Amino acid sequence: MTNESFFADEILQWYEKNRRFLPWRGTKDPYRIWISEIILQQTRVAQGYDYFVRFIERFPDVQALAAASEDEVLRCWQGLGYYSRARNLHCAARQIVASGGFPMDYEGIRNLKGVGDYTAAAIASFAFGLPHAVVDGNVYRVLSRYFGVDEAIDTGRGRKCFAELAQALLPDRERVADYNQGLMDFGALQCVPKSPRCMDCPLNESCMAFREGRVKDLPVKVNALIVSKRYLHYFWVQVGGEMVLFRREGKDIWKGLYEPMLVETDTACSPEALFDRQDMPSFLLAKDSVRTLLCAGICHQLTHRTLICDFHHVVLQEKPTDEMFGRKACWIHREELSDYAMPRLVTLLLEKSGILSEN
Ligand code: ADE
Repeated sequence: MTNESFFADEILQWYEKNRRFLPWRGTKDPYRIWISEIILQQTRVAQGYDYFVRFIERFPDVQALAAASEDEVLRCWQGLGYYSRARNLHCAARQIVASGGFPMDYEGIRNLKGVGDYTAAAIASFAFGLPHAVVDGNVYRVLSRYFGVDEAIDTGRGRKCFAELAQALLPDRERVADYNQGLMDFGALQCVPKSPRCMDCPLNESCMAFREGRVKDLPVKVNALIVSKRYLHYFWVQVGGEMVLFRREGKDIWKGLYEPMLVETDTACSPEALFDRQDMPSFLLAKDSVRTLLCAGICHQLTHRTLICDFHHVVLQEKPTDEMFGRKACWIHREELSDYAMPRLVTLLLEKSGILSEN
């Protein structure tokens, strides 16, 4: 038996005993597999599980998803983060319906908006049994350790090297889907990033990193994650029984989601100093306005950014115009809040200040 087929057999045996029963497994429906893989791109299985179930209930097939509005899709995605995933899903659903059905080959799947090499390989192998290796963070970790590969996983050269190795390891066509799923589960449950379970690992005798005591050094990464800070000041602007929300547009985070009025500063600025700034919109400072600080110094971590945030309640006597806001305002009543998809940070601010009840 070659080293490649030995590895694939071991993974398949491990999977037989340890597989997780997840709602997107045991189906060949490419629509469900596609939805699950997009959810799982940046979300852990434990968090993604309920979202998947709810998403499929609400949009049971590609026609239902294509017929929905972008706002409806974003509402179903609210709280999951990386909202471009939801917008791309919606756009791709319309692409699929317009072209007459779900693509059945790798290229067609890879051309869908929001689908990269990894997701295309996952859908192609799980739904159609096509021989494409999945290479995600789990797979990099398992392969680098088992085969002792110290090529960095975040360089073009490294990615190519791992993609070739992964492809060479694929078993025969009937077992490709189970093997790919097995390799991902093995990475998620056994060969985990910190404190991997090497002692009870059935592959430990043939694992290069284990034999050489290099498990904690692999995989190798060369580029550190750069995290920048952003200072956000939100204003819950109220006039009579109405409050104002804005839909985020442009290329920034949270496109398509709704938020209260926002002022962003380049550097840290205390809630007190904020109202002395020259660039504050003057209508917030109107003599007959009532301003209350609801919360301050809230830190919210995204992958590439730390958001530092405060939240103010401002009661005005007159509605500012869209020109004064510099954006199109959406005036709503409190009971309508749940109709609008909002970033997790905004929901937290609304909950913390008692505007939304926690559930
Ligand atoms: N992570 C990404 N895709 C997955 C899948 N299909 N099952 C479990 N974890 C995953």
